[in-house]
Amino acid sequence: MNESSPSLRTFLDLLARRDELTRVTDAVAADLEAAALLAALGERPTLLEHVRGSDYRVAAGIVSRRRYLAWALGVKPERLLQRLVEALASPGPPPLWDGGPCREVVKPTVDLRRLPFFTHWQTDAGPYATAAVLFLDDPETGPNASFHRLLRLDERHLVARLVENRGAYNSWHRVAPAPLPVAIAIGLPPHILLAASMGPPPGVDEMTIAQALAPTPLVRCENGIQVPAVAEFILEGRLTQQLTAEGPFVDLTGTLDIVRQQPIIEIDRITHRQAPIYQALLPGGLEHKVLMGLPKEPTICAAVGEVADCRNVYITPGGASWLHAVVQIHKTEADAGRRAGEAAFRGHPSLKHVVVVDTDIDIFNPEAVEWAIATRFQADRDLQVWPDQPSSSLDPSACQLPGRKARAAKVAVDATVPWEGNQPPAMQPFRQLAFPSVDLTAYHIEGGKNGN
Ligand SMILES: Cc1cc2nc3c(=O)[nH]c(=O)nc-3n(C[C@H](O)[C@H](O)[C@H](O)COP(=O)(O)O)c2cc1C
Repeated sequence: MNESSPSLRTFLDLLARRDELTRVTDAVAADLEAAALLAALGERPTLLEHVRGSDYRVAAGIVSRRRYLAWALGVKPERLLQRLVEALASPGPPPLWDGGPCREVVKPTVDLRRLPFFTHWQTDAGPYATAAVLFLDDPETGPNASFHRLLRLDERHLVARLVENRGAYNSWHRVAPAPLPVAIAIGLPPHILLAASMGPPPGVDEMTIAQALAPTPLVRCENGIQVPAVAEFILEGRLTQQLTAEGPFVDLTGTLDIVRQQPIIEIDRITHRQAPIYQALLPGGLEHKVLMGLPKEPTICAAVGEVADCRNVYITPGGASWLHAVVQIHKTEADAGRRAGEAAFRGHPSLKHVVVVDTDIDIFNPEAVEWAIATRFQADRDLQVWPDQPSSSLDPSACQLPGRKARAAKVAVDATVPWEGNQPPAMQPFRQLAFPSVDLTAYHIEGGKNGN
Protein backbone atom coordinates (compact mmCIF):
# COMPACT_ATOMS: atom_id res chain seq x y z
CA MET A 1 0.00 0.00 0.00
CA ASN A 2 1.08 3.52 -0.68
CA GLU A 3 2.33 4.81 2.70
CA SER A 4 1.12 8.32 1.92
CA SER A 5 -2.55 7.23 2.03
CA PRO A 6 -3.71 8.18 5.52
CA SER A 7 -5.70 5.52 7.36
CA LEU A 8 -7.24 5.14 10.79
CA ARG A 9 -4.11 3.33 11.94
CA THR A 10 -1.64 5.92 10.64
CA PHE A 11 -3.68 8.52 12.56
CA LEU A 12 -3.70 6.40 15.73
CA ASP A 13 0.10 6.18 15.39
CA LEU A 14 0.31 9.97 15.12
CA LEU A 15 -1.88 10.39 18.22
CA ALA A 16 0.30 7.90 20.10
CA ARG A 17 3.50 9.72 19.06
CA ARG A 18 2.02 12.94 20.42
CA ASP A 19 1.02 11.13 23.62
CA GLU A 20 -2.68 11.71 22.97
CA LEU A 21 -3.82 8.09 22.68
CA THR A 22 -5.26 6.35 25.74
CA ARG A 23 -5.32 2.55 25.80
CA VAL A 24 -7.69 0.48 27.91
CA THR A 25 -6.54 -3.12 28.29
CA ASP A 26 -9.29 -4.36 30.64
CA ALA A 27 -12.21 -6.23 29.10
CA VAL A 28 -15.12 -3.87 28.50
CA ALA A 29 -18.74 -4.72 27.60
CA ALA A 30 -20.16 -3.25 24.38
CA ASP A 31 -23.51 -3.11 26.10
CA LEU A 32 -23.65 0.25 28.00
CA GLU A 33 -20.19 -0.04 29.65
CA ALA A 34 -17.97 1.02 26.71
CA ALA A 35 -19.94 4.20 25.94
CA ALA A 36 -20.03 5.24 29.61
CA LEU A 37 -16.29 4.60 29.92
CA LEU A 38 -15.45 6.68 26.84
CA ALA A 39 -17.62 9.52 28.17
CA ALA A 40 -15.92 9.30 31.59
CA LEU A 41 -12.55 9.56 29.81
CA GLY A 42 -13.70 12.90 28.43
CA GLU A 43 -13.92 11.38 24.93
CA ARG A 44 -10.17 11.58 24.55
CA PRO A 45 -8.80 9.45 21.68
CA THR A 46 -8.96 5.90 23.05
CA LEU A 47 -8.18 2.37 21.94
CA LEU A 48 -10.23 -0.29 23.72
CA GLU A 49 -8.00 -3.35 23.39
CA HIS A 50 -10.55 -5.90 24.53
CA VAL A 51 -14.31 -5.68 24.01
CA ARG A 52 -16.12 -8.72 25.40
CA GLY A 53 -17.66 -10.98 22.75
CA SER A 54 -15.66 -9.44 19.90
CA ASP A 55 -12.27 -10.21 18.37
CA TYR A 56 -11.65 -6.59 17.42
CA ARG A 57 -10.10 -3.57 19.08
CA VAL A 58 -12.17 -0.38 19.09
CA ALA A 59 -10.91 3.15 18.41
CA ALA A 60 -12.99 6.13 19.54
CA GLY A 61 -12.76 9.87 19.96
CA ILE A 62 -10.07 10.34 17.30
CA VAL A 63 -11.46 13.69 16.17
CA SER A 64 -13.15 14.75 19.40
CA ARG A 65 -11.28 18.06 19.32
CA ARG A 66 -10.80 20.38 16.37
CA ARG A 67 -7.06 20.28 16.90
CA TYR A 68 -6.96 16.55 16.02
CA LEU A 69 -8.67 17.26 12.72
CA ALA A 70 -6.21 20.08 12.16
CA TRP A 71 -3.33 17.64 12.76
CA ALA A 72 -4.85 15.22 10.27
CA LEU A 73 -5.13 17.95 7.63
CA GLY A 74 -1.76 19.48 8.45
CA VAL A 75 -3.10 22.96 9.26
CA LYS A 76 -3.53 25.14 12.34
CA PRO A 77 -7.01 24.83 13.96
CA GLU A 78 -7.89 28.40 12.96
CA ARG A 79 -7.14 27.50 9.30
CA LEU A 80 -9.57 24.55 9.20
CA LEU A 81 -12.42 26.58 7.70
CA GLN A 82 -10.15 27.92 4.96
CA ARG A 83 -8.83 24.41 4.22
CA LEU A 84 -12.39 23.12 3.80
CA VAL A 85 -13.32 26.05 1.56
CA GLU A 86 -10.31 25.23 -0.64
CA ALA A 87 -11.19 21.51 -0.79
CA LEU A 88 -14.81 22.24 -1.70
CA ALA A 89 -13.58 24.52 -4.49
CA SER A 90 -11.14 21.97 -5.94
CA PRO A 91 -12.49 18.41 -5.66
CA GLY A 92 -10.28 15.79 -7.31
CA PRO A 93 -11.05 12.30 -8.66
CA PRO A 94 -9.68 9.67 -6.26
CA PRO A 95 -7.49 6.92 -7.76
CA LEU A 96 -9.12 3.51 -8.18
CA TRP A 97 -6.97 0.59 -7.01
CA ASP A 98 -7.38 -3.03 -8.14
CA GLY A 99 -7.34 -4.24 -4.56
CA GLY A 100 -6.63 -2.80 -1.16
CA PRO A 101 -6.26 -3.45 2.55
CA CYS A 102 -10.01 -3.35 3.23
CA ARG A 103 -10.39 -6.55 1.16
CA GLU A 104 -7.47 -8.44 2.71
CA VAL A 105 -9.81 -10.80 4.62
CA VAL A 106 -13.17 -12.00 3.28
CA LYS A 107 -15.30 -13.46 6.05
CA PRO A 108 -16.59 -16.95 5.18
CA THR A 109 -19.96 -16.16 6.78
CA VAL A 110 -21.81 -12.95 7.57
CA ASP A 111 -22.39 -12.45 11.28
CA LEU A 112 -22.84 -8.83 12.32
CA ARG A 113 -23.04 -9.91 15.97
CA ARG A 114 -19.25 -10.42 15.92
CA LEU A 115 -18.80 -6.68 15.40
CA PRO A 116 -18.73 -4.64 18.62
CA PHE A 117 -21.72 -2.36 17.97
CA PHE A 118 -22.33 -0.44 21.22
CA THR A 119 -25.58 -0.03 23.06
CA HIS A 120 -25.10 3.53 24.34
CA TRP A 121 -28.10 4.09 26.58
CA GLN A 122 -30.62 1.90 28.31
CA THR A 123 -33.37 3.66 26.36
CA ASP A 124 -31.79 2.94 22.91
CA ALA A 125 -33.51 0.38 20.69
CA GLY A 126 -30.40 -1.84 20.69
CA PRO A 127 -26.78 -1.97 19.50
CA TYR A 128 -25.85 0.73 16.99
CA ALA A 129 -22.93 1.41 14.66
CA THR A 130 -22.35 5.16 14.88
CA ALA A 131 -19.12 5.76 12.92
CA ALA A 132 -20.40 3.96 9.82
CA VAL A 133 -20.26 5.64 6.41
CA LEU A 134 -22.70 4.44 3.74
CA PHE A 135 -21.46 4.42 0.14
CA LEU A 136 -23.79 4.13 -2.86
CA ASP A 137 -23.87 4.89 -6.57
CA ASP A 138 -27.02 6.68 -7.64
CA PRO A 139 -28.02 5.94 -11.25
CA GLU A 140 -28.66 9.67 -11.83
CA THR A 141 -26.34 11.60 -9.51
CA GLY A 142 -23.44 9.15 -9.06
CA PRO A 143 -21.54 8.14 -5.95
CA ASN A 144 -22.49 9.45 -2.50
CA ALA A 145 -21.09 8.90 0.97
CA SER A 146 -22.90 9.80 4.19
CA PHE A 147 -23.03 8.85 7.86
CA HIS A 148 -26.03 6.87 9.05
CA ARG A 149 -26.63 5.37 12.44
CA LEU A 150 -27.27 1.66 11.99
CA LEU A 151 -29.29 -0.46 14.39
CA ARG A 152 -28.38 -4.14 14.30
CA LEU A 153 -31.42 -6.37 13.92
CA ASP A 154 -29.73 -9.79 13.58
CA GLU A 155 -26.63 -11.40 12.05
CA ARG A 156 -27.42 -10.14 8.52
CA HIS A 157 -29.72 -7.16 8.94
CA LEU A 158 -29.41 -3.53 9.95
CA VAL A 159 -31.88 -0.68 9.89
CA ALA A 160 -30.53 2.71 8.77
CA ARG A 161 -31.77 6.13 9.77
CA LEU A 162 -32.06 8.12 6.51
CA VAL A 163 -32.95 11.76 7.07
CA GLU A 164 -35.64 12.71 4.57
CA ASN A 165 -34.71 14.52 1.32
CA ARG A 166 -30.95 14.10 1.76
CA GLY A 167 -28.61 12.22 -0.62
CA ALA A 168 -29.04 8.62 0.53
CA TYR A 169 -32.77 8.99 1.12
CA ASN A 170 -33.31 10.45 -2.36
CA SER A 171 -31.27 7.70 -4.07
CA TRP A 172 -33.15 4.99 -2.15
CA HIS A 173 -36.44 6.57 -3.23
CA ARG A 174 -35.34 6.90 -6.84
CA VAL A 175 -34.58 3.18 -7.36
CA ALA A 176 -37.83 1.95 -5.69
CA PRO A 177 -39.16 -0.71 -5.82
CA ALA A 178 -35.67 -2.15 -6.47
CA PRO A 179 -33.11 -2.39 -3.65
CA LEU A 180 -30.11 -0.04 -3.72
CA PRO A 181 -26.63 -1.66 -3.60
CA VAL A 182 -24.59 -0.14 -0.76
CA ALA A 183 -21.31 -0.65 1.06
CA ILE A 184 -20.68 0.46 4.63
CA ALA A 185 -17.18 1.46 5.69
CA ILE A 186 -16.19 1.41 9.36
CA GLY A 187 -12.75 2.49 10.57
CA LEU A 188 -11.75 5.54 8.54
CA PRO A 189 -9.17 8.33 8.81
CA PRO A 190 -10.24 11.86 9.82
CA HIS A 191 -10.23 13.41 6.35
CA ILE A 192 -12.68 10.78 5.03
CA LEU A 193 -14.90 11.13 8.13
CA LEU A 194 -14.98 14.86 7.52
CA ALA A 195 -15.71 14.57 3.78
CA ALA A 196 -18.53 12.07 4.45
CA SER A 197 -20.08 14.57 6.88
CA MET A 198 -20.40 17.15 4.15
CA GLY A 199 -23.54 17.62 2.11
CA PRO A 200 -22.30 18.95 -1.24
CA PRO A 201 -24.82 19.50 -4.06
CA PRO A 202 -26.17 16.34 -5.78
CA GLY A 203 -23.64 15.10 -8.31
CA VAL A 204 -20.62 16.07 -6.19
CA ASP A 205 -19.06 12.91 -4.74
CA GLU A 206 -17.83 13.40 -1.15
CA MET A 207 -14.76 11.27 -1.98
CA THR A 208 -13.60 13.90 -4.48
CA ILE A 209 -13.57 16.34 -1.53
CA ALA A 210 -11.74 13.76 0.59
CA GLN A 211 -9.17 13.44 -2.20
CA ALA A 212 -8.69 17.23 -2.17
CA LEU A 213 -7.90 16.97 1.56
CA ALA A 214 -5.55 13.94 1.38
CA PRO A 215 -4.93 10.90 -0.86
CA THR A 216 -8.07 8.73 -0.84
CA PRO A 217 -7.61 5.61 -2.98
CA LEU A 218 -10.80 3.64 -3.64
CA VAL A 219 -11.46 -0.02 -4.43
CA ARG A 220 -14.52 -1.58 -6.03
CA CYS A 221 -16.59 -4.03 -3.99
CA GLU A 222 -18.14 -7.18 -5.47
CA ASN A 223 -21.44 -5.28 -5.78
CA GLY A 224 -19.77 -2.48 -7.76
CA ILE A 225 -19.76 0.17 -5.03
CA GLN A 226 -16.47 2.02 -4.57
CA VAL A 227 -15.13 2.41 -1.02
CA PRO A 228 -11.95 3.77 0.60
CA ALA A 229 -9.16 1.21 0.23
CA VAL A 230 -7.84 1.96 3.71
CA ALA A 231 -11.15 1.25 5.55
CA GLU A 232 -10.86 -1.26 8.38
CA PHE A 233 -14.20 -3.00 7.64
CA ILE A 234 -16.50 -3.09 4.62
CA LEU A 235 -20.04 -4.45 4.84
CA GLU A 236 -21.49 -5.01 1.36
CA GLY A 237 -25.21 -5.28 0.91
CA ARG A 238 -28.47 -3.82 -0.27
CA LEU A 239 -30.67 -1.07 1.08
CA THR A 240 -34.04 -2.77 0.70
CA GLN A 241 -37.43 -1.12 0.35
CA GLN A 242 -38.64 -2.98 3.43
CA LEU A 243 -39.27 -0.80 6.48
CA THR A 244 -39.10 -1.51 10.18
CA ALA A 245 -39.01 0.45 13.43
CA GLU A 246 -35.78 2.39 14.06
CA GLY A 247 -35.15 4.08 17.41
CA PRO A 248 -35.46 5.37 20.01
CA PHE A 249 -31.86 6.62 20.01
CA VAL A 250 -30.12 9.39 21.91
CA ASP A 251 -28.78 11.60 19.11
CA LEU A 252 -26.78 14.80 18.61
CA THR A 253 -28.71 17.02 21.01
CA GLY A 254 -28.39 14.45 23.82
CA THR A 255 -32.17 13.97 23.76
CA LEU A 256 -34.12 10.87 22.81
CA ASP A 257 -34.94 10.77 19.08
CA ILE A 258 -38.28 9.23 18.18
CA VAL A 259 -39.11 5.83 16.61
CA ARG A 260 -39.61 5.93 12.82
CA GLN A 261 -40.20 3.39 10.07
CA GLN A 262 -36.86 3.14 8.27
CA PRO A 263 -35.31 0.90 5.57
CA ILE A 264 -33.62 -2.43 6.30
CA ILE A 265 -30.13 -3.15 4.95
CA GLU A 266 -29.31 -6.75 4.13
CA ILE A 267 -25.60 -7.56 4.33
CA ASP A 268 -24.15 -10.07 1.82
CA ARG A 269 -20.43 -9.89 2.52
CA ILE A 270 -18.02 -8.64 5.18
CA THR A 271 -14.38 -7.93 4.36
CA HIS A 272 -11.71 -6.36 6.54
CA ARG A 273 -8.04 -5.57 6.99
CA GLN A 274 -5.73 -7.91 8.85
CA ALA A 275 -6.31 -7.39 12.62
CA PRO A 276 -8.98 -4.76 11.93
CA ILE A 277 -9.86 -1.92 14.27
CA TYR A 278 -13.55 -1.16 14.70
CA GLN A 279 -14.46 2.53 15.13
CA ALA A 280 -17.02 3.95 17.54
CA LEU A 281 -18.35 7.48 18.00
CA LEU A 282 -20.29 8.72 21.03
CA PRO A 283 -23.65 10.06 19.84
CA GLY A 284 -24.19 13.57 21.15
CA GLY A 285 -20.52 13.71 22.17
CA LEU A 286 -17.71 16.03 21.15
CA GLU A 287 -16.66 14.04 18.09
CA HIS A 288 -20.20 13.90 16.77
CA LYS A 289 -20.43 17.66 17.23
CA VAL A 290 -17.12 18.41 15.50
CA LEU A 291 -18.11 16.30 12.49
CA MET A 292 -21.62 17.71 12.22
CA GLY A 293 -20.84 21.37 12.74
CA LEU A 294 -17.52 21.98 11.03
CA PRO A 295 -18.63 21.10 7.47
CA LYS A 296 -21.45 23.63 7.70
CA GLU A 297 -19.11 26.54 8.46
CA PRO A 298 -17.79 26.85 4.86
CA THR A 299 -21.30 26.59 3.40
CA ILE A 300 -22.59 29.33 5.72
CA CYS A 301 -19.51 31.41 4.94
CA ALA A 302 -20.17 31.05 1.18
CA ALA A 303 -23.85 32.00 1.51
CA VAL A 304 -23.10 35.01 3.73
CA GLY A 305 -20.24 35.96 1.39
CA GLU A 306 -22.77 36.61 -1.36
CA VAL A 307 -24.37 39.47 0.59
CA ALA A 308 -21.66 40.69 2.97
CA ASP A 309 -17.94 40.50 3.69
CA CYS A 310 -17.91 37.28 5.76
CA ARG A 311 -14.77 36.88 7.86
CA ASN A 312 -15.50 33.78 9.96
CA VAL A 313 -18.21 31.36 11.07
CA TYR A 314 -18.49 29.18 14.18
CA ILE A 315 -21.16 26.55 14.76
CA THR A 316 -21.28 26.61 18.54
CA PRO A 317 -21.21 23.48 20.71
CA GLY A 318 -23.91 24.90 23.00
CA GLY A 319 -26.30 24.70 20.04
CA ALA A 320 -25.45 20.99 19.68
CA SER A 321 -23.02 22.05 16.93
CA TRP A 322 -25.93 22.10 14.49
CA LEU A 323 -28.66 24.57 15.48
CA HIS A 324 -26.67 27.73 16.37
CA ALA A 325 -24.03 29.74 14.52
CA VAL A 326 -22.05 32.91 15.07
CA VAL A 327 -21.17 34.78 11.87
CA GLN A 328 -18.47 37.42 11.80
CA ILE A 329 -18.60 40.13 9.13
CA HIS A 330 -16.66 43.22 8.18
CA LYS A 331 -19.59 45.63 8.01
CA THR A 332 -19.50 47.94 5.01
CA GLU A 333 -23.20 48.79 4.73
CA ALA A 334 -25.92 49.71 7.20
CA ASP A 335 -28.02 46.56 6.69
CA ALA A 336 -25.14 44.10 6.16
CA GLY A 337 -25.77 42.46 9.56
CA ARG A 338 -29.43 41.80 8.77
CA ARG A 339 -28.65 40.44 5.31
CA ALA A 340 -25.86 38.24 6.67
CA GLY A 341 -28.27 36.77 9.26
CA GLU A 342 -30.81 35.94 6.60
CA ALA A 343 -28.21 34.42 4.25
CA ALA A 344 -26.77 32.15 6.97
CA PHE A 345 -29.92 29.98 6.79
CA ARG A 346 -29.37 29.43 3.07
CA GLY A 347 -25.90 28.06 3.88
CA HIS A 348 -27.25 25.63 6.49
CA PRO A 349 -31.01 25.02 6.24
CA SER A 350 -31.14 23.15 9.59
CA LEU A 351 -29.82 26.23 11.41
CA LYS A 352 -32.25 27.67 13.96
CA HIS A 353 -30.58 30.73 15.55
CA VAL A 354 -27.77 32.90 14.23
CA VAL A 355 -25.89 35.82 15.78
CA VAL A 356 -23.99 38.22 13.52
CA VAL A 357 -21.04 40.13 15.01
CA ASP A 358 -18.28 42.51 13.94
CA THR A 359 -14.62 41.65 13.45
CA ASP A 360 -13.61 42.85 16.93
CA ILE A 361 -15.66 40.06 18.56
CA ASP A 362 -14.03 36.69 19.31
CA ILE A 363 -16.63 34.32 17.87
CA PHE A 364 -15.14 31.33 19.71
CA ASN A 365 -15.77 33.00 23.10
CA PRO A 366 -19.45 32.77 24.16
CA GLU A 367 -19.01 35.62 26.68
CA ALA A 368 -17.69 37.92 23.97
CA VAL A 369 -20.65 37.10 21.71
CA GLU A 370 -23.08 37.67 24.58
CA TRP A 371 -21.33 40.98 25.29
CA ALA A 372 -21.91 42.04 21.67
CA ILE A 373 -25.62 41.21 22.02
CA ALA A 374 -25.79 43.08 25.32
CA THR A 375 -24.16 46.27 24.02
CA ARG A 376 -24.98 46.47 20.28
CA PHE A 377 -28.34 44.80 19.79
CA GLN A 378 -31.89 46.18 20.17
CA ALA A 379 -34.63 43.58 19.76
CA ASP A 380 -37.15 45.93 18.11
CA ARG A 381 -34.56 46.97 15.52
CA ASP A 382 -32.12 44.07 15.07
CA LEU A 383 -34.15 40.90 15.56
CA GLN A 384 -35.55 38.93 12.62
CA VAL A 385 -38.01 36.06 13.22
CA TRP A 386 -39.34 33.72 10.53
CA PRO A 387 -42.10 31.47 11.87
CA ASP A 388 -42.88 27.94 10.63
CA GLN A 389 -39.79 27.22 8.52
CA PRO A 390 -38.38 23.86 7.31
CA SER A 391 -35.92 22.88 10.04
CA SER A 392 -33.97 20.15 11.78
CA SER A 393 -35.31 16.69 12.60
CA LEU A 394 -32.93 16.77 15.56
CA ASP A 395 -34.72 19.62 17.35
CA PRO A 396 -37.14 18.09 19.87
CA SER A 397 -39.05 21.38 20.14
CA ALA A 398 -39.73 21.54 16.37
CA CYS A 399 -43.01 20.35 14.87
CA GLN A 400 -42.22 16.75 13.84
CA LEU A 401 -44.76 14.91 11.66
CA PRO A 402 -44.03 11.38 10.32
CA GLY A 403 -42.47 11.43 6.83
CA ARG A 404 -42.53 15.26 6.71
CA LYS A 405 -39.72 17.78 7.10
CA ALA A 406 -39.62 19.21 10.64
CA ARG A 407 -40.76 22.84 11.01
CA ALA A 408 -39.64 25.51 13.47
CA ALA A 409 -39.16 29.25 13.88
CA LYS A 410 -35.84 30.81 12.86
CA VAL A 411 -34.20 33.78 14.53
CA ALA A 412 -31.37 36.07 13.44
CA VAL A 413 -29.78 38.48 15.93
CA ASP A 414 -27.83 41.32 14.37
CA ALA A 415 -25.33 42.19 17.10
CA THR A 416 -23.15 44.35 14.87
CA VAL A 417 -22.59 48.00 15.76
CA PRO A 418 -25.60 49.97 14.41
CA TRP A 419 -24.92 52.53 11.73
CA GLU A 420 -26.34 56.08 11.82
CA GLY A 421 -28.34 56.09 8.59
CA ASN A 422 -25.90 55.26 5.82
CA GLN A 423 -22.94 56.49 7.81
CA PRO A 424 -20.50 54.22 9.67
CA PRO A 425 -20.99 54.79 13.40
CA ALA A 426 -18.70 56.59 15.79
CA MET A 427 -17.09 53.50 17.32
CA GLN A 428 -16.33 55.19 20.65
CA PRO A 429 -19.48 54.10 22.56
CA PHE A 430 -19.22 50.52 21.28
CA ARG A 431 -15.57 49.73 21.81
CA GLN A 432 -14.60 47.61 24.78
CA LEU A 433 -11.79 49.37 26.57
CA ALA A 434 -8.91 47.53 28.21
CA PHE A 435 -6.47 48.66 30.88
CA PRO A 436 -2.86 48.95 29.77
CA SER A 437 -0.70 45.91 30.49
CA VAL A 438 1.28 46.01 33.73
CA ASP A 439 4.59 44.29 34.52
CA LEU A 440 3.65 42.52 37.78
CA THR A 441 7.26 41.52 38.43
CA ALA A 442 7.97 45.21 39.12
CA TYR A 443 5.81 45.03 42.30
CA HIS A 444 6.17 43.30 45.66
CA ILE A 445 2.90 41.38 45.80
CA GLU A 446 2.00 39.21 48.82
CA GLY A 447 -0.88 36.97 49.80
CA GLY A 448 -4.38 36.72 48.33
CA LYS A 449 -3.45 33.93 45.92
CA ASN A 450 -6.96 32.57 46.02
CA GLY A 451 -8.46 35.86 44.92
CA ASN A 452 -9.56 34.41 41.57
C1 LIG B 1 -21.56 11.30 13.19
C2 LIG B 1 -22.66 11.59 12.22
C3 LIG B 1 -23.82 10.86 12.25
C4 LIG B 1 -24.83 11.09 11.34
N1 LIG B 1 -25.94 10.31 11.35
C5 LIG B 1 -26.88 10.45 10.39
C6 LIG B 1 -28.01 9.57 10.32
O1 LIG B 1 -28.18 8.68 11.16
N2 LIG B 1 -28.89 9.75 9.30
C7 LIG B 1 -28.72 10.72 8.35
O2 LIG B 1 -29.54 10.80 7.43
N3 LIG B 1 -27.69 11.58 8.42
C8 LIG B 1 -26.77 11.46 9.41
N4 LIG B 1 -25.70 12.31 9.46
C9 LIG B 1 -25.61 13.42 8.53
C10 LIG B 1 -25.21 12.97 7.17
O3 LIG B 1 -23.91 12.46 7.11
C11 LIG B 1 -25.35 14.22 6.34
O4 LIG B 1 -26.71 14.45 6.26
C12 LIG B 1 -24.77 14.07 5.01
O5 LIG B 1 -23.62 14.83 5.03
C13 LIG B 1 -25.69 14.54 3.93
O6 LIG B 1 -25.00 14.39 2.77
P1 LIG B 1 -25.72 13.92 1.45
O7 LIG B 1 -26.94 14.80 1.31
O8 LIG B 1 -24.71 14.10 0.40
O9 LIG B 1 -26.07 12.48 1.63
C14 LIG B 1 -24.69 12.12 10.39
C15 LIG B 1 -23.53 12.87 10.37
C16 LIG B 1 -22.52 12.62 11.27
C17 LIG B 1 -21.27 13.43 11.22
